[in-house]
Amino acid sequence: MKDMFAVFFMLLVASPYCLCIRMIADANPNFNVMDYGAKGDGQTDDSQAFLKVWKNVCNATGTPTLLIPQGKTFLLQPISFMGACNPTSITVELQGDLVAPNSMDAWKWPDSNTNKGYWIRFSDINGLVVNGGGQIDGQGAPWWKYPNNPRPVALSFHNCRGLQLINLTNINSPGGHMSVNGCNGSLFSNLHIIAPGDSPNTDGIDISSSSNVIIQHSEMRTGDDCIAINGGSSFINVTDVACGPGHGISIGSLGKNGAYETVEEIHVKNCSFNGSSNGARIKTWVGGSGYARKITFENINFTATANPVIMDQHYDPRYADTTNSAVKVSDVTYYQLYGTSAVENAIQLDCDNSSGCTNIVLNDINIASSDPGKKTFASCNNAHGISSSCTPAIPCLLN
Ligand SMILES: *[C@@H]1O[C@H](CO)[C@@H](O)[C@H](O)[C@H]1NC(C)=O
Ligand SMILES: *[C@@H]1O[C@H](CO)[C@@H](O)[C@H](O)[C@H]1NC(C)=O
Ligand SMILES: *[C@@H]1O[C@H](CO)[C@@H](O)[C@H](O)[C@H]1NC(C)=O
Ligand SMILES: *[C@@H]1O[C@H](CO)[C@@H](O)[C@H](O)[C@H]1NC(C)=O
Ligand SMILES: *[C@@H]1O[C@H](CO)[C@@H](O)[C@H](O)[C@H]1NC(C)=O
Ligand SMILES: *[C@@H]1O[C@H](CO)[C@@H](O)[C@H](O)[C@H]1NC(C)=O
Ligand SMILES: *[C@@H]1O[C@H](CO)[C@@H](O)[C@H](O)[C@H]1NC(C)=O
Ligand SMILES: *[C@@H]1O[C@H](CO)[C@@H](O)[C@H](O)[C@H]1NC(C)=O
Repeated sequence: MKDMFAVFFMLLVASPYCLCIRMIADANPNFNVMDYGAKGDGQTDDSQAFLKVWKNVCNATGTPTLLIPQGKTFLLQPISFMGACNPTSITVELQGDLVAPNSMDAWKWPDSNTNKGYWIRFSDINGLVVNGGGQIDGQGAPWWKYPNNPRPVALSFHNCRGLQLINLTNINSPGGHMSVNGCNGSLFSNLHIIAPGDSPNTDGIDISSSSNVIIQHSEMRTGDDCIAINGGSSFINVTDVACGPGHGISIGSLGKNGAYETVEEIHVKNCSFNGSSNGARIKTWVGGSGYARKITFENINFTATANPVIMDQHYDPRYADTTNSAVKVSDVTYYQLYGTSAVENAIQLDCDNSSGCTNIVLNDINIASSDPGKKTFASCNNAHGISSSCTPAIPCLLN
């Protein structure tokens, strides 16, 4: 009798908790891809299971979490996770690994997507958070043998608000590792993006037509640009990124085929380049229009970097000054850049003779040659601005 009373009492006390926990659970529903038929054995095509669970996640109430569990490897064919979705925020806990088909022939392109543009795409989703420490392996090696063929981007984000990509590894993409296009308010943090230094066009993160992007605390070791900031982008902060091997952190290229393109408010800070073939780079094509302005490269270390500072308005030299038009480059500041260059011409400011580059400021720069027997120098064409405390000295800028 006493025991029964105790049990009854416990139920009475516990029930509000149960109710409360249930309500919380309903507000934050959890989905596990294993419950939708995924095998996670690295061999079976799990694409259909991912599409099924996504349909439910996208249509859930509250703020759902999709778990992709640890210790498993999921083989995915080219796949699109589409919005618009019901929840204001969706978390994808990628604890396990995603792997692409391991030969070009094994990729199955859906009819609606024959352009081979991407492997995994998230489109029209707001508040998407992807984290969990997992790895995304694009198995790019077979593709790299055909460097002139179009090759898919491993992870593509299109038309989004409030994207967060945190604590993930992305390796060996066929083409670029990640692209973000048409997004406002994105955070990329604690990412490891890795591919061989000689893998063609395996950019780390490509940004286009996007605003308010933070990229921080990440390493990028690839065969092309660590980060490329393309047309239509503004308010992009890159902080604490280790780049190299790779082609540096690049604004552009801009203005290809006469395009009008704009980029502004780009701040690259506290980054390091090690053995990369460029460092702080701005590249524009002859004949384009628009602008690249309000750009800072600050507190950057170079280790045996080729072209540590390069501003190049003749990106394709075959078209040197053949037109009277260029993407205008202005208000660019380089501050506290230190380290070593693998080439003697450590600072190149090569601007177009029609528009030139204006208000270029270099201050507190010390870049020596990585070959102790050699000296570095700076070269300029049509560059205007000021410099102070610079080694090498920059003769074309006011002191
Ligand atoms: C989405 O959920 C609503 C109710 O929660 C349901 O009526 C509807 O059928 C679901 N749609 C899909 C595509 O699952
Ligand atoms: C990354 O995710 C793993 C797995 O969830 C976790 O153990 C680790 O602490 C995370 N690291 C960071 C830097 O958040
Ligand atoms: C980005 O979002 C912010 C905050 O919602 C808004 O003020 C801004 O206009 C948006 N920018 C663009 C380019 O859509
Ligand atoms: C981006 O960097 C600029 C310049 O350092 C700084 O003023 C701004 O607050 C930063 N924005 C964010 C969102 O961190
Ligand atoms: C600056 O970079 C160093 C070296 O990568 C890192 O340890 C430090 O946390 C970074 N500081 C900030 C504010 O990002
Ligand atoms: C650059 O090197 C200096 C001196 O070794 C160090 O204090 C600073 O943290 C380094 N910065 C980065 C971004 O690695
Ligand atoms: C640069 O990379 C080389 C080769 O990977 C490595 O041995 C060296 O420690 C790195 N140096 C710095 C300063 O990160
Ligand atoms: C730029 O240089 C080209 C080739 O040297 C020349 O034909 C053209 O007139 C120059 N334009 C200006 C504005 O100086």
